[in-house]
Amino acid sequence: VGLAVTPPDRGVEALASANRRLEGELEEARQKLVTTVDRLAATQARLLQAEKLSALGQLVAGVAHELNNPLTSVIGYAQLLHEELTSKQTGVTRPAEALAEDLGVVCREAERAARIVRALLAFASRQAATREPVSIGDLVEPVLALRQHAHTAAGIEFAVCRPPDLPRLLADAPQLQQVLLNLLLNAEQAVRPVAGPRRIDLAIDVDTRAYAVRFAISENGHGINPADLGRVFDPFFTTRPVGAGSGLGLSVCYGIVRDHGGEIEVESVPFRRTTFVVRLPALPAQPVDRGPVAIVLRDPAAREFLAAALRAWGYRFVAADSGERALAIMGRRIAAALIEPGAIPGALPAMLAALDEAGARLVLLGDHAGLHALPGDAAAACRARARAVVPPPYCLEMLRAGLVAAGVAETEALYEETS
Ligand SMILES: Nc1ncnc2c1ncn2[C@@H]1O[C@H](COP(=O)(O)OP(=O)(O)O)[C@@H](O)[C@H]1O
Ligand SMILES: [Mg+2]
Repeated sequence: VGLAVTPPDRGVEALASANRRLEGELEEARQKLVTTVDRLAATQARLLQAEKLSALGQLVAGVAHELNNPLTSVIGYAQLLHEELTSKQTGVTRPAEALAEDLGVVCREAERAARIVRALLAFASRQAATREPVSIGDLVEPVLALRQHAHTAAGIEFAVCRPPDLPRLLADAPQLQQVLLNLLLNAEQAVRPVAGPRRIDLAIDVDTRAYAVRFAISENGHGINPADLGRVFDPFFTTRPVGAGSGLGLSVCYGIVRDHGGEIEVESVPFRRTTFVVRLPALPAQPVDRGPVAIVLRDPAAREFLAAALRAWGYRFVAADSGERALAIMGRRIAAALIEPGAIPGALPAMLAALDEAGARLVLLGDHAGLHALPGDAAAACRARARAVVPPPYCLEMLRAGLVAAGVAETEALYEETS
């Protein structure tokens, strides 16, 4: 048996050139991927805008009526008062209080018109996502104001059940209003063909266990075929005739709710009850303390950035990159932990137990892909405890939002400087 002898330098040379070729191909593939991702992002942005415009289109018809009602009062009373005040023959006969009352109606109705215009502008504008404390009233009232007339016109009985003293949300109000509006428009479309009483209910309450505010929109419309239940949130899924629906409304809702660290679900019994439920993390009523805060994050640069931000905001904190180090940190008293669950899959159960024991609040760092990649029930356990999800790329605003949601920031103080 002979040995095949290859001159060593030629073998190495061949390997090196093969390697160079591979590297070249890899780089080319990477470039292509980057271009494709960019293109996808641009397409997605255009689609979202298209969906918003179609929702706006549906709104505009109703808004004409919404505006005409207050304008009728404004113009009518203003003309009456003008006549009364300038009339040579009769002069002013009513007491000043009566005139003031009429003027009060003018003011009130003009403000109502202005509110409607503001709400419309908020939907139409395309701003970068923000996170600010918003009250439930400020969130839902503009949406309801926009649909009131449409409900009356279509013979829809609409009821809102909203207890007082609901906690505030840390949210992008126009985005969440778009969610409510999309759900409401779908509900209206579902009840319109119903022959009997058409009813839509919006119930808002607090899920104290999950520190969440729960919005349930339910109606007695045509409902969703059980086979379609799993698909209604898919982009482009629509059962409406060609041209009548984009199939994007619910996928937009899903994306916005997810970006707020919330969840959206649907249940349907056709012609009995269809309910869309949105759960969004609530702001704690009482700001708690200024740390210490634990950061568990794999990427050193990202970890250093979070540390720098916490340092600048005057927090005491500890940072770790591994499960072992993190658990050592957990041994100390901490107020909150910002954790990238994917960084410590093995140590996660022990860590969650340690958090519970310390009474520390959990903020998840990372996206939902990271959560889905976790083994077993870990994702559900994380989601059940998390007060907020801070998605990458990490920015100051989202980080603040996470800290506020975790109750380790003074809400007003933190937002004073930005507003
Ligand atoms: N309240 C509802 N009742 C019955 N079906 C609904 C309801 N909301 C949504 N759907 C179903 O989900 C589909 C997707 O909704 P959506 O994403 O808003 O797109 P579109 O309204 O443009 O069809 C609808 O076509 C409809 O089949
Ligand atoms: Mg829709």
